[in-house]
Order: sequence, then C-alpha cells, then structure tokens
Amino acid sequence: MREAGDRRDAIGAEADTGEERFEEPLRPRNLREMVGQDRLRENLGVFIRAACERREPIDHLLFHGPPGLGKTSLAHIVAHEMSAPLRITSGPAIEKPGDLAALLANLEAGDVLFIDEIHRLAPTVEEILYPAMEDFHIDLMIGQGPGAQSIRLDIPRFTLIGATTRAGLLTSPLRDRFGWTARLEYYPPEDLERILERSARVLGIKIEPEARQEISTRSRGTPRIANRLLRRVRDFAEVGAESGQSIGHTGARFALGRLDIDEAGFDRLDRALLETLIEKFDGGPVGLETLAAAVGEDKGTLEDLVEPFLIHEGFLDRTPRGRVATERARSHLGLLPPDFQTKLF
Ligand SMILES: Nc1ncnc2c1ncn2[C@@H]1O[C@H](COP(=O)(O)OP(=O)(O)OP(=O)(O)O)[C@@H](O)[C@H]1O
Ligand SMILES: [Mg+2]
Repeated sequence: MREAGDRRDAIGAEADTGEERFEEPLRPRNLREMVGQDRLRENLGVFIRAACERREPIDHLLFHGPPGLGKTSLAHIVAHEMSAPLRITSGPAIEKPGDLAALLANLEAGDVLFIDEIHRLAPTVEEILYPAMEDFHIDLMIGQGPGAQSIRLDIPRFTLIGATTRAGLLTSPLRDRFGWTARLEYYPPEDLERILERSARVLGIKIEPEARQEISTRSRGTPRIANRLLRRVRDFAEVGAESGQSIGHTGARFALGRLDIDEAGFDRLDRALLETLIEKFDGGPVGLETLAAAVGEDKGTLEDLVEPFLIHEGFLDRTPRGRVATERARSHLGLLPPDFQTKLF
C-alpha cells in the first residue's frame, strides 16, 4: 500500500523524488527565523532558555500535526538552539529493539534524538524507549532460554523529539513520557506570505507582493506547499513572457491556474473527493473506505493529506456515520442542491 507521503498530483509530484533537497535550504534555522505558530514558538523559547540556564538537556518533546507545517524543522531548531547535535531516525527505520538500543547506547550527553513518524515504531521497539526516556537506562536481554539474563545499561541524558501526523495512533505510555506535546496548526495567509518572502530571498526569486499573496492564499495553510508553488510559479515565469522580470500577480495566477490549483487552494484530488461525495453520495454521510474506493485513492492519503485541511476550512465534516460535504463545499464547487433556490427565496 502506498504511504500518504506518496501523493502524486500537481503539487505533490516531488514528494518522493528528492523534495528534501529543495526543502533543506528553506528550513528556518532558529526560532527567530521561524514564522508563525506564535504560542508554540514562545513556549518553546522559554523551555529552551530554562534548560540552558540549568545546563540540562531540554525535556522530551512531541510535535504533531498535518504534513509540511514544520515538525522536522522544529527538531533542527531545538538542536540548534541547544547547541546540540541532532541524530535523525524514523519509526519504520528502526526494525528491531536491538537497533534502537544500539542507537541509544551511542548517544552522548545532551544529544537530541529525532524520531520521525514515531507512531510507526514497532511495539517491542517502543518498550525500549520507556525506561530510556524516563530513567535514562535500557534493559538488554543477554542470551536465550532459561539462561537469559536482563542487564541494565545506563545511557546519557538525552532529549527525544518525536514527530507524527497521527498523534491519535500513539500509545498512552509513550505519549505520557513526553515533557511537552505541541500541535502545529495551519498557517494563516499572512504568515505564509512572510515565509514566501524569505524563501524567495533565499532562492533569489524576484516576486511582487501581490504574487506572493496569491500563492499564500492557495497553499492550504502549509509552508511546504507554499514553497513548492513558489518554485513552480518561477518555472512558468522563467519560460514565459515574464522571464527575467519580477513575477507579478498575473504571472502567479496564470501558473496556479495551469497547476489546477483553485482559489481555495484545492487541487484535483480535493475537488474529486468533494465532487464524488456530493454527486455520487448526495453529500454523505459516507464511510472513508467507500469514498477512497470511489475516488481511486488510498485511504491513508485521504485521511492524512486531504481531509484535515478540508475539515479545518469547513468544507467537510467528519461524523460518526461518515464524511459529509458542507454547504460551503457545495457553493464553492457550484454544486448546490436543486431545491436550494427555493429554500433561499
Ligand atoms: N514556520 C515556518 N517558517 C518557515 N518555513 C517553514 C515553517 N514551517 C515549515 N517551513 C518550511 O516548510 C518545509 C516543510 O517543513 P517540515 O519538513 O518541517 O514539515 P513537517 O511537519 O516535518 O512535515 P512532514 O509531516 O511531512 O514530515 C520546510 O522545509 C520549511 O522550508
Ligand atoms: Mg517531517
């Protein structure tokens, strides 16, 4: 089965083809460069300062929220602000308890260990983490059968940073061992504009404020998408009439239209989901599995990448009986029910 990150469409096509390469230079390097998420940033700033003053590693942190909002960037920022090395791994990359034990045993005091997709850790691996996070030791089994012995190995005080798009899948013993859990929220267009301003500067792209504004309102509240659309808009500008000039409003609108991104930031898949829901299922409620089959997409992709934004923006409701399209979705797509006029007048 395909993972959610594999979504392939106009804006997601690069997801598994070296997107990291493009993202790396655009990552905010410290808390000052990070835009938006004000409450989170302020709180994190306090925790970092307090830990530094106590000359202790910062407590374990969990970042969760939809893809592309800055979880990985935050892990880099925390390590940078603590002047600590960052060791990066991910839930699915750690196959056996021994792999994690080796990783932990090789940490040095103050290191920051980042486990991405932490909800995908195998249960046996996760158990190694509990005493490591709480008491900074690991329990190793030596030998097999009746002669097997458990030995305790102390490990240096470290900071674990976990990231997940699916906080609901985390077990409570794991969730409870984080000193602070923070949820990243979708960014308002003003924040995305500021992010785009910085990205354009870093990438040497000349772009007018109106063009930045146009991109920011169509980026689904997501910095990763904003940065990606900026690069695509630049592509159109480079081969089009605007080559060499600053990218203007018309250029941005043209490129976004060609990418099939509409005014609400919907791409083909967003529209397909809502259109199918409204036209085939009379607006719902309909189960996610049925909906996924009807639009020919993986259920996880819809759940992780498509739905959260549609729900956040009030286009879709998640009810116990299934997904329901809202009035807002109908009017955005121009699919009002036949009796709507009579209801109105
Ligand atoms: N607050 C921010 N300020 C500036 N740029 C940001 C911010 N948040 C994210 N970005 C940009 O968006 C890109 C994606 O962010 P990041 O990789 O941290 O997201 P993520 O939450 O880890 O996503 P995923 O769940 O897919 O792993 C970064 O490379 C960075 O350029
Ligand atoms: Mg990430």
